[in-house]
Amino acid sequence: MSRSFPRIRKAVFPVAGLGTRFLPATKTVPKEMLPIVDRPLIQYAVDEAIAAGCDTLVFVTNRYKHAVADYFDKAYELEQKLEKSGKQELLALVRNVLPDGVRAVFVTQAEALGLGHAVLCARPVVGDEPFAVLLPDDLIWSRGDGALTQMADHAQATGGSVVAVQDVPREQTSSYGIVATDGFDGQAGRIRKIVEKPRPEDAPSTLAVVGRYILSPAIFDLLETTPKGAGGEIQLTDAIAALLQRERVDAFRFHGTRFDCGTHLGLIEATIRYALDHEKLSEAARGLMQRALGEMGVVET
Ligand code: UTP
Repeated sequence: MSRSFPRIRKAVFPVAGLGTRFLPATKTVPKEMLPIVDRPLIQYAVDEAIAAGCDTLVFVTNRYKHAVADYFDKAYELEQKLEKSGKQELLALVRNVLPDGVRAVFVTQAEALGLGHAVLCARPVVGDEPFAVLLPDDLIWSRGDGALTQMADHAQATGGSVVAVQDVPREQTSSYGIVATDGFDGQAGRIRKIVEKPRPEDAPSTLAVVGRYILSPAIFDLLETTPKGAGGEIQLTDAIAALLQRERVDAFRFHGTRFDCGTHLGLIEATIRYALDHEKLSEAARGLMQRALGEMGVVET
């Protein structure tokens, strides 16, 4: 892989999963539309991609997820109403869901055949250039540059693909893709091996892959030939395992805190953290939490 890895412009959001862990809510509300304070999960991921320089957002959806497309569509009536009543602040919020100069493209994954298959569905839009993949239910909170910006800088510097990782307790390795690296310097290292959901005693490290990737377009040919893996699904991890035999793929430990909003507790934790960090709600939220803990007898007030 040459060092002329161009800056990523396209970001893929695979949102065609069934979201079974949030049933019954996800019977009608896609998981990505669940809110953290005032914005749906998908908005946080979209903002992170735009901040990293992406101007083409590819949403891989299924036929039940009209809500995602509707959310990014222009809301003429609502905007007119807000304009007439002089609610400029709200109007800006609604319009900035998708800023000018950024386009959204929707691709359908006809059958939920796995994350790898969902990424492959984006091929006709991505074409032959490096691109980002963001899983919106991995919400990453950071005070400085977003995780994807940090990764894009690293990809440009090294000229190769980059996979986000974080340390997990050894007993949790069987919930993640786990990497083994060469020369990990505390922040990044070249991946030598990637294993999907190893048992703690078999895991080559405790560095777990989380939902941010910058991938070389070579991944598409590999996905075309990736057989069904764990759970009968076409796994992105398996195609990455093939990619690193040919090209450089780095593991990158980003600055920031990741919340696994694909789980109940992760969504609750993210809501608490964003409320406590919110410029208008912070103090009131703190008070509410103290009162709730006091009334439930969890802490003395
Ligand atoms: P998950 O493993 O979280 O699956 O997928 P899920 O269906 O969304 O949720 P649960 O486990 O049933 O609660 C990881 C990511 O891959 C996408 C999902 O939308 C999510 O962003 N995905 C998964 C697809 O787009 N298509 C698939 O076939 C599978």
